[in-house]
Amino acid sequence: MDANKDWIRSRKSVRTFDGRALSETDMQALAAYEAPADPFGVPVTLRLLNAQEHGLTSPVIVGAQTYWGVKAPRAPYFEAAVGYVFENACLFAFNRGVGTVMLAASLNRSAFEKAMDLQPDEVMPVASPVGYPAAKRSLRETLMRKGIRADERKPFESLFFQGGFDQPLDPAQAGVWADPLEAVRWAPSAANGQPWRLVLEADRVHFYETRTMKESPLGDIQLLDVGIAMAHLELAAAQQGLTGVFTVADPGLPTPENTRYVITFAQA
Ligand SMILES: Cc1cc2nc3c(=O)[nH]c(=O)nc-3n(C[C@H](O)[C@H](O)[C@H](O)COP(=O)(O)O)c2cc1C
Repeated sequence: MDANKDWIRSRKSVRTFDGRALSETDMQALAAYEAPADPFGVPVTLRLLNAQEHGLTSPVIVGAQTYWGVKAPRAPYFEAAVGYVFENACLFAFNRGVGTVMLAASLNRSAFEKAMDLQPDEVMPVASPVGYPAAKRSLRETLMRKGIRADERKPFESLFFQGGFDQPLDPAQAGVWADPLEAVRWAPSAANGQPWRLVLEADRVHFYETRTMKESPLGDIQLLDVGIAMAHLELAAAQQGLTGVFTVADPGLPTPENTRYVITFAQA
């Protein structure tokens, strides 16, 4: 990711592509991409797949020739690991002008799982097309974005807290964390559910998940969203010169209903 902070607001999911194949250079760059080590220690595998060769289709995607599949063993927190690694990869693609959108539901799953050579103990929670965005979105995508309010996010104060969940964080008081938190706010999430809640405590940011969706055979998709949020916070923090490490150290704060602690970003 370059020093340009613009990605926080300009990144959008892309479902309408211009039909061109990825250039040789972009294909090689994506194939060689190495994500930062996943803090949960779960091995995550990415694979570029030719749509035609494997019969990969999605009812919401137009004009994509290539997909990126991702899989991991069903280990504790594998969903967050997949979200963290795959979102880092998607932001790397975005930085090269390559569009993506994570798809959990809108794909012919069995063809994707076969193409990923999925083993019985593995899960492929999502896959994404990779390609060049078309000049204009399809009507279907435009309507979909409206329906899901994809261009809106919950207010800052309802997602981020200071010291505990009883203390909403005023963006004006967020200091150096303002941009990293804004990067979390504008992150993608399944059905734009925005299940992340973050509590700021001195030089630490605690990540929580507020569940609104049921667990499926694919695992807890909203935990995957939390992994995405981790990638966004870490990248935007690095752009502020704030480096840190992810560590599991539950501060034991009282939590609202359906909310659980996941991980902490501790400033190094
Ligand atoms: C885990 C996950 C699963 C998703 N699954 C789908 C899907 O099945 N179909 C789809 O069209 N979009 C899917 N999306 C895209 C979201 O709808 C999109 O990120 C959200 O509406 C916000 O829009 P934005 O990414 O343009 O900001 C998924 C996103 C995530 C993170």
